[in-house]
Formats: sequence, structure tokens, C-alpha cells
Amino acid sequence: MGVFTAGTTFLWLFTAVTSSRAKDLVELTATASQTGSCHSSVTLHCNISPKEGLKIREFSWVRDTGVNPEMCRVRNDNERIQCSNTSQMHLALTFKHLMPTDQGTYYCRMQSNMGLKATKSTVTVKDCYKRAETQSSVSKVDCHFYGVYPLGEVHWFSKEKNVTDKAKENSSMDQEGFYKVSSSLPSEGRAEEYNCSLWIPGTGAYLTSMLVRSGATSLQTVGVGWVLLLGTIFTV
Ligand SMILES: *[C@@H]1O[C@H](CO)[C@@H](O)[C@H](O)[C@H]1NC(C)=O
Ligand SMILES: *[C@@H]1O[C@H](CO)[C@@H](O)[C@H](O)[C@H]1NC(C)=O
Ligand SMILES: *[C@@H]1O[C@H](CO)[C@@H](O)[C@H](O)[C@H]1NC(C)=O
Ligand SMILES: *[C@@H]1O[C@H](CO)[C@@H](O)[C@H](O)[C@H]1NC(C)=O
Repeated sequence: MGVFTAGTTFLWLFTAVTSSRAKDLVELTATASQTGSCHSSVTLHCNISPKEGLKIREFSWVRDTGVNPEMCRVRNDNERIQCSNTSQMHLALTFKHLMPTDQGTYYCRMQSNMGLKATKSTVTVKDCYKRAETQSSVSKVDCHFYGVYPLGEVHWFSKEKNVTDKAKENSSMDQEGFYKVSSSLPSEGRAEEYNCSLWIPGTGAYLTSMLVRSGATSLQTVGVGWVLLLGTIFTV
């Protein structure tokens, strides 16, 4: 059934993209591309140009691959992926909480008495984390980063010196494609301040960092990464 559906979609898109009859008569325009940090909200818009006598039979967003390629028609939405229209000629697809698995190609498609049309959009998911936490005890300091994407590694600094080699790192992936990255550094009972930084090899940059003091028992939630990232986007 999945193969049949995917094959049908491919045929549909092929027919729609190569249909010149529809191209002359009706215009379909869509957001060409969108980039968002994971956990943020992203919307793809699609608009049909008004045309006298046009009768829309189907208007939807579909994904280029997958067992269930149809993302939405108007009236059909779920909690995270929502469809809305401001008129019968507009269809918006919103990812309310962008996930790594949302990255890909989407098509807005329309079927009418004036033919078939499909137009392409791409979604790119940028690096982010959701929450960070430090933990310290007499013998060690820990840093935990939650909701990280893509996979990162923790680097440790003590008085400008790179002490990463002394640390033990641990990472795991959840069902949604986000990583939890944890790192533990022995502190040998001394009271000292350490800097733990989250390095994303894919982008070649530090995404965030925290300071953690050894020698006392404490637990601190330091940052909420996606809120900070969104803040940056809106103030730029
Ligand atoms: C959205 O689309 C539906 C189905 O085509 C239509 O019935 C409805 O009127 C549209 N909404 C608006 C605000 O035009
Ligand atoms: C710190 O050390 C780690 C592990 O050896 C290394 O991967 C990283 O590039 C170093 N970072 C800096 C800024 O020196
Ligand atoms: C790594 O994760 C495993 C499983 O969650 C845990 O048992 C182990 O203690 C962790 N190791 C470190 C160094 O955090
Ligand atoms: C921690 O170290 C990194 C890498 O050297 C640096 O970019 C960051 O600003 C430092 N963070 C703090 C809180 O000092």
C-alpha cells in the first residue's frame, strides 16, 4: 500500500509538472524554501492565482517521499502539523515544533477543471538545543544538553586550558531525532570553575556553553536554547 501510494504521488507530480495546458491557464506559487531552528515554527504558503471559471477539485501539500506523503488538505490537521487557508486560493502548511525529520522537499498541488499543477518547497532544519543542565559533586562535574540537533560533542575548558581528554561523553537519540549529550569530568576534589561547551561538528561552531563550579553539590538548569535562538531571529 505504501509503495503504491508513493508511486501514485510520483506519477501525479510528474504529470502536474509537465502539464503545459495548466501552466498557461492558472498560476500556482509557493514559498521556495524555509529554514528554521528545530523546536521553532515554520510555515509554507501556497497560492493559486485567481482565474475566471476556475473550479478547484483538490488543493494539498504533499511530501516527496514516504509511506504517507500527503501532509494536509484544508480541514485535515493534527497537533504539530497544521493546515490553514485565508481563502480558497491559499493553503498554508505549518510545522509548529520543527523536527529534524521535517527537513525535506514538499509539493503544493492543485487539481482543477483547468488542469493539474504542482510547485516545490524545501525545508531546512538548523542546529539547536532545547535545554541545558549542569551538575556538580565533590568528585565530578557534569553537563547535559537536551533536544540537540544535529549531534554535538562537549568540550571542557579550565582556565583557558582544553581538558576535554579527561572527560567521558555519552549521547543518545530520542524517537523524534533529537540527541541528549552528556559529559562528565572528574574534578579531584578541588574547587574550580569549568567551562563546558557544546560543539556541533556539522557547522564547525560552539552552539552554547556553561560554567560549572566543582567542589559543591548542585544542580542547575542554565539555558533554554530554542527560546534564545528564536529571540535572536526576531531581534535581527
Ligand atoms: C478554506 O478552504 C475550504 C475548502 O476548500 C473552504 O470551504 C473555506 O471557505 C476556505 N476558507 C476560507 C477562509 O476561505
Ligand atoms: C579541545 O579538545 C578536543 C578533544 O581533544 C578537541 O576535539 C577540540 O577541538 C579542542 N578545542 C579547542 C578549542 O581547542
Ligand atoms: C552513559 O549512559 C548510560 C545509559 O544511560 C549510563 O548508564 C552511564 O552511566 C552513562 N555514562 C556516563 C559517563 O555518563
Ligand atoms: C567557554 O569556552 C568557549 C570556547 O573557548 C567560548 O566560546 C565560550 O565563550 C566560553 N563560555 C563561557 C561562559 O565562558
